[in-house]
Amino acid sequence: MFTLDCDRAYLFAHPERELSAEEQSRYDAALGERARGVPAQYITGHQEFWGMDLIVTPAVLIPRPETEHVVETVLALQGSLPGVGRPAFGPRTSAVRVSESRKADAGCRVLDVGTGSGCIALALARELPDAEMHATDISTAALEVARANAARHQLENRIQFHRADLLAGLNLTDLDFVVSNLPYVGESEEDQVQLEVRKFEPRNAVFGGPTGTEVIARLIPQAHAALRPGGWSSWKSAEQLPTGSSNSCKTGKKFASSPIYNPSLASYRRESRRFNANKNPAIRKIRTKCGKRLRSEV
Ligand SMILES: C[S@@+](CC[C@H](N)C(=O)[O-])C[C@H]1O[C@@H](n2cnc3c(N)ncnc32)[C@H](O)[C@@H]1O
Repeated sequence: MFTLDCDRAYLFAHPERELSAEEQSRYDAALGERARGVPAQYITGHQEFWGMDLIVTPAVLIPRPETEHVVETVLALQGSLPGVGRPAFGPRTSAVRVSESRKADAGCRVLDVGTGSGCIALALARELPDAEMHATDISTAALEVARANAARHQLENRIQFHRADLLAGLNLTDLDFVVSNLPYVGESEEDQVQLEVRKFEPRNAVFGGPTGTEVIARLIPQAHAALRPGGWSSWKSAEQLPTGSSNSCKTGKKFASSPIYNPSLASYRRESRRFNANKNPAIRKIRTKCGKRLRSEV
């Protein structure tokens, strides 16, 4: 499909089709790249995320399917925020999701920190057509890819892209969501990382400092300052966090024990390495509305 720039249906419909010399050499080159470990997505330049075909280059992390959980979390919580409609979390057909969430997202303000290819921001911009979307990255090259993806999906007027170290200099306040999938692998664990990732994906997208938690630890207070009371932060992190046992990480205590988040509402999903935390002081209202769902998530 990549060699012929065609879809699967064309291949099935034309079994007799022979490759020209040029096509054959393109195919051989792609095989050669793959044989030396280059991820298929960097060879083809594409990866699907949330039903969208995204451009990927070696400047960005290849979007992972489990990162869709971050999108799902926002959609689920967004419907339960005070002053907005019912939960938008529904069947994964775009038409249903958009129509359900459309009613609930007016005035909702979302920031995706470390946007990379733009996958999270784009998915949320598509699902929340009336929300105000911001996305940051420290890498100029990554932002170029994210902007290209936004244009590719006619979302360029929906997302404000910023080059920034986390939220530094952005002057964003009163956000409903600060979501992120920042680097969280420790440099000390480098030898445990898959060779393809280590060798070909951007280092600043994978490694988050000596222990892997350094970038996220800086994000937490900045996210708190930018959230409105009752707003949510959702981030991915390794289970093993420094100075804390895995038990404390599972319950979110490592981060939630700071005055920023209410420990009882921080949750951790092991399979997706995802933390969610809610900013005080609107805690009672949120607990009434969605405490049940959160407890079942922990
Ligand atoms: C793990 S990748 C995730 C990309 C995308 N959000 C995804 O889920 O596929 C992390 C991204 O965070 C960016 N990043 C790393 N450190 C950062 C920082 N201090 N401030 C902003 N972005 C940062 C990297 O350039 C990279 O694009």
